[in-house]
Amino acid sequence: MSEYAVEIEHLVKKFGSLTAVNDVSLKIKKGEIFGLLGPNGAGKSTTINMILGLLQPTSGKVLVNGADMQRNPYAARNEIGIVTQETVVEPELTAEQNLMIFGRLYHIPPSELPKDIDFALELADLVSFRKAYAGTFSGGMKRRLETAKALMHAPKVILLDEPTTGLDIQNRTKIWNLLRDINRKQNVTILLTTQYLEEADQLCNRIGIIDHGKLIALGTPTELRQKIGVSSVIEISADKEDLQKVAGAFRKAGLEPQVLTNKVVAPGGGNAAKKIEMLIKAMSAGKIPVRNISMHEPTIDDVFLKLTGAEVRDETGEFSGRGRMMLKGGR
Ligand SMILES: Nc1ncnc2c1ncn2[C@@H]1O[C@H](COP(=O)(O)OP(=O)(O)O)[C@@H](O)[C@H]1O
Ligand SMILES: [Mg+2]
Repeated sequence: MSEYAVEIEHLVKKFGSLTAVNDVSLKIKKGEIFGLLGPNGAGKSTTINMILGLLQPTSGKVLVNGADMQRNPYAARNEIGIVTQETVVEPELTAEQNLMIFGRLYHIPPSELPKDIDFALELADLVSFRKAYAGTFSGGMKRRLETAKALMHAPKVILLDEPTTGLDIQNRTKIWNLLRDINRKQNVTILLTTQYLEEADQLCNRIGIIDHGKLIALGTPTELRQKIGVSSVIEISADKEDLQKVAGAFRKAGLEPQVLTNKVVAPGGGNAAKKIEMLIKAMSAGKIPVRNISMHEPTIDDVFLKLTGAEVRDETGEFSGRGRMMLKGGR
């Protein structure tokens, strides 16, 4: 038995001249909640689809519980539950009927089906919506039904492609709890993709950051924070037209600022508190209206920024995909 639920080795996928996945190697241990984090177009779905055997790699190898996806796809696929990026619940059927059809498809014995359906409804927090048509459900409820459905045939590994994208925080939290629950109680290994830094940080034991098809960082959230070698980050949010003035004040305080879409950030260095004081004085002396001044421990955003020179977060905490910035001597 392999100690890994999923192993990918030198995985490459080319679409014509575009290399969507560029030599990615990863080992996901049994029992882990692993998050593949990256902006739109980074290559997350392409990677997931190759792990599922839905897409043929250009080169490289995928093993699921030790079974080779290309040579032994049935053995490999048997172990996996899937939640794809698009929702696929049947709107004309009730929650219960959706689960029943899926259970039959996966050859769950009829004698066990009622118990499994109860279990799935409980997981999805949809017990009181058992007889309601899935077409009437909110996006979050559909997503929960889908996730619970993928868990009904008791897979050892579950792959979820952006399970919470577009959901409000309440539904996102419900999905997180559902995933934590099955991970802990049934030791299901979870591999999910996400654009949400916060999700990777809070839910995942380990994170792989993917950008332009390349795995650019791998580790626990704490390891990733340590990796950038910065103990604190100072940031000031202000109006766009004032950002250069703010950056000037950073430089005067002996900091190395980076100007982003609506804020200026810099590593705090040794006496960050003193620097903040200098910055506050400079802002008030220059009559620069400031929306926020803060000092914080490095977050996964800061890791991404440091590694790629690109800003990752808009107000919703999602990869913005906009305003990619060049660092000095950048990419
Ligand atoms: N079937 C395809 N044909 C051509 N290009 C594709 C195809 N699927 C994905 N791509 C491209 O590959 C890159 C990675 O896509 P994808 O894996 O869907 O990214 P993500 O899931 O991280 O948003 C993107 O540039 C996308 O346009
Ligand atoms: Mg995708």
